Amino acid sequence: MQAKREHWGGQLAFVLATAGSAVGLGNIWKFPYLAGQHGGSAFVLIYLLCVLVFGLPLMLCEFVIGRTAQKDAVGSFVVLAPNTRWWLVGVLGILTGLIILSYYSVVAGWSLHYIWETITWAYGRLDASAMGTHFGAFTADYRLTILWHAVFMGLCVAIVVGGVKEGIEFWSKILMPLLFAMLLFIVGWVFFLPGAWRGYEFLFALDLWKALKPDVVIAALGQAFFSLGVGMGCLITYGSYMKKEDNLFSSALWVMIADTGVALLAGLAIFPAVFSFGLKPASGPGLVFCTLPAIFKGMSGGRFIGLIFFVALAIAAVTSAISLVEVIVAYLIDEKGMERMKATILVGVAAFLLGVPTALSFAPSTPEHPFGLKDATIDLLGAKLTFFDVVEKFTSNICLPVGGALIVSFILFGWGLDQAVRNLEEGTSSGWRRFSWWWAFLLRIVVPVLLLLTMAYSFGLFGFDAHGGMVLLPVLGGGA
Ligand code: TRP
Repeated sequence: MQAKREHWGGQLAFVLATAGSAVGLGNIWKFPYLAGQHGGSAFVLIYLLCVLVFGLPLMLCEFVIGRTAQKDAVGSFVVLAPNTRWWLVGVLGILTGLIILSYYSVVAGWSLHYIWETITWAYGRLDASAMGTHFGAFTADYRLTILWHAVFMGLCVAIVVGGVKEGIEFWSKILMPLLFAMLLFIVGWVFFLPGAWRGYEFLFALDLWKALKPDVVIAALGQAFFSLGVGMGCLITYGSYMKKEDNLFSSALWVMIADTGVALLAGLAIFPAVFSFGLKPASGPGLVFCTLPAIFKGMSGGRFIGLIFFVALAIAAVTSAISLVEVIVAYLIDEKGMERMKATILVGVAAFLLGVPTALSFAPSTPEHPFGLKDATIDLLGAKLTFFDVVEKFTSNICLPVGGALIVSFILFGWGLDQAVRNLEEGTSSGWRRFSWWWAFLLRIVVPVLLLLTMAYSFGLFGFDAHGGMVLLPVLGGGA
């Protein structure tokens, strides 16, 4: 006999936990550097549109599947469409989740290391121009990065072992408000830096021609997926701990507002400082680990602000990673009858081991670091990719969009839109129900078209030239 299913304490708990899942490295590490690379305001505008027409409907799909079925990401499909193969969608989700978790934990480990470096002021003693080399030397030292990766996985396991209420909910209720407060504090602080206004201009002054470039649209679409955490059953799992009397529409809206809000806050914390110090916004994934330490070193109160920043980054990462752990743990508990303790440790160990090659991907092989995999790259469409590049791109650009498409197809063809709408409306007053019409409209028309476009692009069926004009890639017979 299985123990009774745990539930969130209420709608607030659900929103905080799910916002915790959504708000993560994607918001504070990835969003600012993508915005920096893709022209700032242009990217921000398209991203917001993608979240609204694309992320929000998908989020509702996952919520309603999970809440109705009251099961994990695989079992939910079995309950709603028995004797079909739709459960394979859940299996794809579990595998995707495990891979994302493995590399996510490595990057999160870097943020733990930078907390440590801020406390000991290790980078504060360096020349500002040496930050990139310093970061490179750190990631090359894989014994250290693997150690931090293990510490981070350990933290996640410790939280998830506590269960839905006493683990995930308890920590989300403490950490999420703290995270908001910390980011707001930094945003207020950098507001007073000389020349900060250029950062606001960069983020919000709209140049529509830039915004309409297709590569900006594709990048924004992928980011919307990753940041909201849709496409792999994570929100099916969290939704399954929700009660029938809670409102799914308002919950989804709040999660979206929190997720977008934190991404914008991260931008407002970072770009005014970047411009004030005359640095470049388009420095890519190193923006947070190379550009920011240079700023903290030069800014008054920088050591304090730096500490707040990296702690906030780590908090955001923990509350996201635990949701990925919980997806697989819930599967092992519901489908395999495993105990929570055993399941959580198993997931932690598996994700740790799978993350090791990712940690090695940043280290060149040298006599003192013979296992480095940085130069062990494979060629794909002219780019040299490391193990990390492969797993990161494969999951974000292929697994999540495919998973999302399958989840939408399940609602349309497996379960039935009418059934889904009926269950979605449970727990709402009639005023909310006009949103069901919009939801159904987006799912039937807008979402499929957008998904097909992204997937075609990810599979390399078409690409863009240097001016943003569309070209067909050789696969389709176009010139390169
Ligand atoms: N959304 C989180 C972030 O932005 C990461 C995350 C959590 C995620 N759960 C997910 C990404 C599910 C994809 C799928 O950092």
